[in-house]
Amino acid sequence: MAADSAHASQHSPDGEETRRDFLYLVAGAMGAVGTGAFAWPLINSMNPSADVLALSSTEVDLTPIEVGQSVTVVWRDKPVFIRHRTEDEIAAANDVAINELPDPQTDADRVVKPEWLIVGGNCTHLGCVPLGQKTGDEKGEYDGWFCPCHGSHYDTSGRIRKGPAPLNLPVPPVEFLDDTTIKIG
Ligand code: FES
Repeated sequence: MAADSAHASQHSPDGEETRRDFLYLVAGAMGAVGTGAFAWPLINSMNPSADVLALSSTEVDLTPIEVGQSVTVVWRDKPVFIRHRTEDEIAAANDVAINELPDPQTDADRVVKPEWLIVGGNCTHLGCVPLGQKTGDEKGEYDGWFCPCHGSHYDTSGRIRKGPAPLNLPVPPVEFLDDTTIKIG
């Protein structure tokens, strides 16, 4: 699977950014530990039971992710967005009237470290994967993510700000194993 996808990525019109995002995604999936090890490549073909999926976790080395860059990793067969936020993005996430949000939540409640935002990558409307991970993607009116399926706009904290999605992008369980390594799940 990896070889096929890597081959495809070399022909991507998005060039280097796409290739880098893709390579990182594979690294993240291969980093699954415990019972979940290598769960991702097997999921499509073997349909593992729910308890196997529930046990899986993914370790990610954050070192290569530069400020302002986003990558996507896979956890429990779903995309997870990791964004190394800029100071401006962090400031924007905090410069919000919380009680006016559709799904009120402070930024502090959604991050372990302000510079790292880690959220589920499926729109809370009908599950599309929003744009905003790749350089040049439309990020919506709040500079976070934009779901083109029906027009949902998420902010730099992954909170829903406009459109039909009812909830913020969910925050998975995240633990920092050291300064630059996280465990999701
Ligand atoms: S699935 Fe995202 S707006 Fe409908």
